[in-house]
Amino acid sequence: MPRLRSRFVCASCGFATARPLGRCPQCSEWGALIEEAVVAGPGVSPAPAGGGNEPSPLCEVGGADVPRQPTGLAEFDRVLGGGLVAGSLVLLGGDPGVGKSTLLLQALGGLARGGSVLYVSGEESREQIAMRGRRLGVSAPRLLVLAETRLERILQHAAALATTALAVDSVQTVHLQAAAGLPGSLAQVREAAGRLLAVAKESGVAVVLVGHVTKDGSRAGPRTLEHLVDVVLHFEGERASGCRLLRARKNRFGSTTEVGVFEMRAEGLREVPNPSALFLAERPAGAPGSAVVAGLEGTRPLLVEVQALVASPAGPPRRAAMGIDPYRVALLLAVLERRAGVRVLDQDVFVNVAGGFQLDEPASDLALAAAVASAARGVAVEPATVCFGEVGLAGEVRAVAGPEPRLAEAARLGFGRCVVPEASRARLRADPPLEVVGVRDLAGALEVLLWPPGLAGSRAGP
Ligand SMILES: Nc1ncnc2c1ncn2[C@@H]1O[C@H](COP(=O)(O)OP(=O)(O)OP(=O)(O)O)[C@@H](O)[C@H]1O
Ligand SMILES: [Mg+2]
Repeated sequence: MPRLRSRFVCASCGFATARPLGRCPQCSEWGALIEEAVVAGPGVSPAPAGGGNEPSPLCEVGGADVPRQPTGLAEFDRVLGGGLVAGSLVLLGGDPGVGKSTLLLQALGGLARGGSVLYVSGEESREQIAMRGRRLGVSAPRLLVLAETRLERILQHAAALATTALAVDSVQTVHLQAAAGLPGSLAQVREAAGRLLAVAKESGVAVVLVGHVTKDGSRAGPRTLEHLVDVVLHFEGERASGCRLLRARKNRFGSTTEVGVFEMRAEGLREVPNPSALFLAERPAGAPGSAVVAGLEGTRPLLVEVQALVASPAGPPRRAAMGIDPYRVALLLAVLERRAGVRVLDQDVFVNVAGGFQLDEPASDLALAAAVASAARGVAVEPATVCFGEVGLAGEVRAVAGPEPRLAEAARLGFGRCVVPEASRARLRADPPLEVVGVRDLAGALEVLLWPPGLAGSRAGP
């Protein structure tokens, strides 16, 4: 007979222990360990995905291409790696109200052109969903809606309808009568996701789960699901800006470097095929403290503005960074002062990435340093110039991947000059579409990038 005992699982990182602890030893979160029942003894291991449990030569195993269903939302498909894979389990997370249900309904509307699709909501009535559908212009006859929280019923309906895709909005609202705990509890969320995973793998239905993730991680049940699911998507953006970004944090069927860009409007999410123009729309060209990085997100070049403000401190110097790693900012401030003679270490420094974008790649170092130096010296970055390059601790400017698409995007948006690492310039395979200036160190880069004082207005930006 199976024996019942309990264990304590961290809602934040999934760490499990037999003892109740106030603080999680893995992620240091306080009060996140939640008790759940476990069945010990002879258990049943889930069948492996795709069946076939005899050892066989790898080269003889079939299934070369995974079948994908395009959603018709090109930005969504791009992040998925080319469409929703049959039999995959996708977790779509994001802050409350960011637009998860909107994105899902629009994507399901596209999927329903290829087969019947079931959208289950445990949060909204069918009428509410229909109202949103009308506002978004989603009217596919094979998109079926169901307001239900009992997972057993949801799975019965999905099986009877033989749907190609099933969406559950949200995983925190559904519950299994057979499992312990209240809806939304860790035990219920994990049990429900486990059931849906089995359904996806056995029947080939693509399953999308919506999961709420709050910024403080207090209701972070979905975090613990990240190991279980095939794809983890995160929908983010500042509510005020209207700009929304979709990123893959994990993807068993594609890259995790792609980003999908959307704009939230009254009629729903509009794809932004040309995000550089959106990010640069309100750039104060010619003002000190603003620099443009020619970035690369996955395979897509993206021009983004970095802003900085340097002020005399009233007390100990303060630092604030939005959209960029604060440790990277601290490191670059030290390099700026020690290697390029820009006095910033005893100043207040504030850094912001325009449009609510998150800059992760080291190629943005040069633009960040240029924005801070520009703010500190009170001189603008030459407005028709963009830059990219990683800055090392010795103040050297290092080569980064993909210079060609970055240069092409900068030229397409009307920039006339790009400051790049000399090593990247030397490796260019073709004639660049704009003037390219190779630099070896930060001090040299700032000489090229910053306008000389008193020369404002010499050259118009795009
Ligand atoms: N009538 C409307 N007109 C314009 N925009 C709207 C309208 N209704 C909703 N929105 C936009 O949609 C957003 C909410 O979208 P949605 O319900 O898809 O978010 P969600 O992430 O699913 O939220 P929740 O966490 O509550 O499930 C709002 O923040 C708002 O920006
Ligand atoms: Mg919702």
